[in-house]
Amino acid sequence: MSGCPFHFSRRGFLSALGIAAAAGGAGLGAGIGATAVADAVSGGHGKAEPFYAAQQGAAHQGGIATPPQSHTYFAAFDLVTDKRDDVIALLKKWTESSARMAKGMPADAIAPENAADTHDSGDALGLPPSRLTINIGFGPTFFVKDGKDRYGLASRRPEALVDMPAFSGDQLVPEHTGGDMSVQACADDPQVAFHAVRQLARLADYTAQIRWTQAGFASSPPDGGTPRNLMGFKDGTVNPARPDYDKVVWAGREAPDWMQGGTYLVARRIRIALEHWDKMKVPFQEQVFGRQKLSGAPLGGKKEFDIADFNATDADGNSVIAENSHMRLAAAVNNDGAQILRRAYSYNNGVNVTAERWPPWREGMEYDAGLLFLCYQRDPRTGFIKIFDKMSKFDIMNQFVTHVGGGLFALPRGARQGEFIGQGLFV
Ligand code: HEM
Repeated sequence: MSGCPFHFSRRGFLSALGIAAAAGGAGLGAGIGATAVADAVSGGHGKAEPFYAAQQGAAHQGGIATPPQSHTYFAAFDLVTDKRDDVIALLKKWTESSARMAKGMPADAIAPENAADTHDSGDALGLPPSRLTINIGFGPTFFVKDGKDRYGLASRRPEALVDMPAFSGDQLVPEHTGGDMSVQACADDPQVAFHAVRQLARLADYTAQIRWTQAGFASSPPDGGTPRNLMGFKDGTVNPARPDYDKVVWAGREAPDWMQGGTYLVARRIRIALEHWDKMKVPFQEQVFGRQKLSGAPLGGKKEFDIADFNATDADGNSVIAENSHMRLAAAVNNDGAQILRRAYSYNNGVNVTAERWPPWREGMEYDAGLLFLCYQRDPRTGFIKIFDKMSKFDIMNQFVTHVGGGLFALPRGARQGEFIGQGLFV
């Protein structure tokens, strides 16, 4: 068995390099030595993030409060079974395999001698864990679909998991929208992130199938600063402070037991008309966001993290930060304190044929690229929905962006060792 190349775990690969011995036998998820080993191999990108939540204290899934990795692979799944036990078996398999992959191991034991088994595709063998996190969520249709309570869970649907209202300007394509379940893998290596979702999709065979996916990227500069989006602006500057996560991000006592410590994810695939944007002069672009392009400072400020002064006016009495700017409309102070945790990734799906927007009015190829906007909150009704209702009508950025897909998912609290994600739903 050991002669088979497929029996190398990704961790085993490190051992094969002769480095792991120095790290001792600690599990990669928790072992400081193992982390150092991974760093030695990959210059800091090799670290493992723990999959299971700590045994003590509030339990959260990974990839939410985790410092953002440089890549994501997001997938929405539809369940194709009517059996509750199939769903439980799937969640168990997904939990166990996710925990293995987060340590840098294949999703499941590879057993080529048993031709009846499918096994890990092997495309991440030899790669370090790359801070892989995987989180799993339930969409409204997990609970009730086409009026059917397939799994006897209709009464367990959290109140906050609402049907998303339609917003001004929405052009959501059904093929990129909704889903009974969500899986998001984040990693510092795009191959590790894709591999993880691909394995879970394979393991879901006959129980769930992929509805839509989106890969994303968000590279920080070497100094660890805020990544820039495809419009060239720093994106992620203003986010809730960590001590406020209990108030803003994690579901509390108002939520069902299994959701306490969980969160609600709003995903939106937002196409950006890059060709149009690139024709705009920088001072106008800065007015659109209300921030300086290079430094990321709020207009009227000097540094990226300066507090925006929304009352400042210029010599003509006009607001320095325009009334219809993205930042003004989104800011908590202008939304009765409403906040969300943003953790967005840019995406690039190649090009599509679309009409040019101005003379010579010809058809041509345009980028199918934009932002996979992902935000996490304690309650979407007082988070995304509250904030975006106004923005969807008045944000000057809307002339450059179109929401073409997305979904709302309840991400249950994290599993502790021995549990599976969402277990509390089935008791
Ligand atoms: C393509 C779509 C979008 C782009 C390119 C974009 C870009 C930006 C940029 C550059 C900033 C300023 C820097 C920062 O604080 O991160 C910002 C801030 C923000 N955006 Fe967006 N955004 C997009 C969509 C959205 C959507 C759909 C929402 C929904 C609620 C949203 C909510 C916010 C919030 C809450 C802030 C922080 C405002 C503040 O307090 O200063 N954004 N966004």
